[in-house]
Amino acid sequence: MKNIMVTGGCGFIGSNFIRYLLSAPDFKEDMRIINADKLTYAGNKESLADIPGRFPGQYVFVYGDICDKGTMEKIVDDYDIDTMCHFAAESHVDRSIVEPDTFVQTNVVGTFNLLEIFRRRKDRMVLFHHVSTDEVFGSLGKFDYFRETTPYNPSSPYSASKASSDHLVRAYVHTYAIPATLSNCSNNYGPYQYPEKLIPLMILNAYTGKKLPVYGKGLNIRDWLYVKDHCRGIWEIMNRGKRGETYNIGGDCEKKNIDVVCMICDILDGMEPLKSGQPRRELINFVDDKKLRPGHDFRYAIDFSKIQVELGWAPEESFETGLEKTIRWYLKNPEWVNLVQKKCSEWLQRHYNQVT
Ligand code: NAD
Ligand code: DAU
Repeated sequence: MKNIMVTGGCGFIGSNFIRYLLSAPDFKEDMRIINADKLTYAGNKESLADIPGRFPGQYVFVYGDICDKGTMEKIVDDYDIDTMCHFAAESHVDRSIVEPDTFVQTNVVGTFNLLEIFRRRKDRMVLFHHVSTDEVFGSLGKFDYFRETTPYNPSSPYSASKASSDHLVRAYVHTYAIPATLSNCSNNYGPYQYPEKLIPLMILNAYTGKKLPVYGKGLNIRDWLYVKDHCRGIWEIMNRGKRGETYNIGGDCEKKNIDVVCMICDILDGMEPLKSGQPRRELINFVDDKKLRPGHDFRYAIDFSKIQVELGWAPEESFETGLEKTIRWYLKNPEWVNLVQKKCSEWLQRHYNQVT
């Protein structure tokens, strides 16, 4: 791997991945990252503002839409790309319910374009790594775990589009023998996450004393993973994962949404109580999830024993320390927060006005 194209590198996980890689001990001096991103509402060049200056020659940003095949081909040829790590996607479940078209375009057609470009240059290509989600498996009851062998059963347009992209990658491995790996990961949290997702939205609302919209009774369960642990897992797979294989990545950290929100309230109360003295838990507002998220998946939980046994990967950050770090990061970065909040405010108003 020399010239690694990271798609969607200005998003939450992509930007964390680029930071992780540039400081990883096994990221060699002759390696280069080419970050190709369309800068949608979720893409922020500011998330990597310090990187070009700190790593001249090892990092390049190129504007590009993965749905535009000609532009992507040019990037791949101009930068002599030999490896693709594919994050770019529309990623928010609620938005996929309101406007599914872009999800099909970017997640399905965009991935297809990259696969076509890759296979037509197969001789010089080293690896296509596809970053995917545990949501492709659907919803779990109270027991059991998602394994690599769990049948696909996606519920939302988002998860169906990601499932579709996973199938395309596997079909290209099977039919064209391209060297590819896949990862299906559970819910990430950490710095630079766009505040439409549960944890950053709750941190920012709770900090400023706004209502905390919890869907249903807050009993749905997610398996939380600190984003840096995810990035380390992806890099392990890219380096040592078996070609053609899929690896599940998870946090061993199942939490009910309401418990996550209460933890955020309590940590913030401990750091900086509201001027009114009101405990932040009183800001919790249970809202109708049938309006905001019809078909809301109940529980996700990952069995990550394959990556643990084969590659020695396991999560390192505990939820308590990871959440506190994340909260501190949001409080210490008001410029970034203001910028993305401006972009997010229209969506938030439109979305949550339906239930208030
Ligand atoms: P994000 O929404 O924060 O970022 C997506 C990035 O992709 C943005 O920078 C955006 O500008 C870019 N992008 C969107 N459409 C594009 C296009 N057509 N061409 C080029 N760039 C485009 O997403 P995220 O949360 O960082 O997720 C990244 C990937 O990880 C996605 O594939 C997602 O399915 C997967 N994933 C996310 C999670 C999670 O908890 N966030 C968990 C598992 C897997
Ligand atoms: O599991 C991996 C997936 O995790 C990724 O593939 C997705 O890209 C990512 O967005 C995330 O999907 P979720 O739908 O699980 O994340 P979200 O933060 O949107 O919601 C988490 C839970 O919190 C879910 O049960 C809905 C609930 N929720 C969410 C929001 C935004 C609320 O109760 N209130 C809210 O305001």
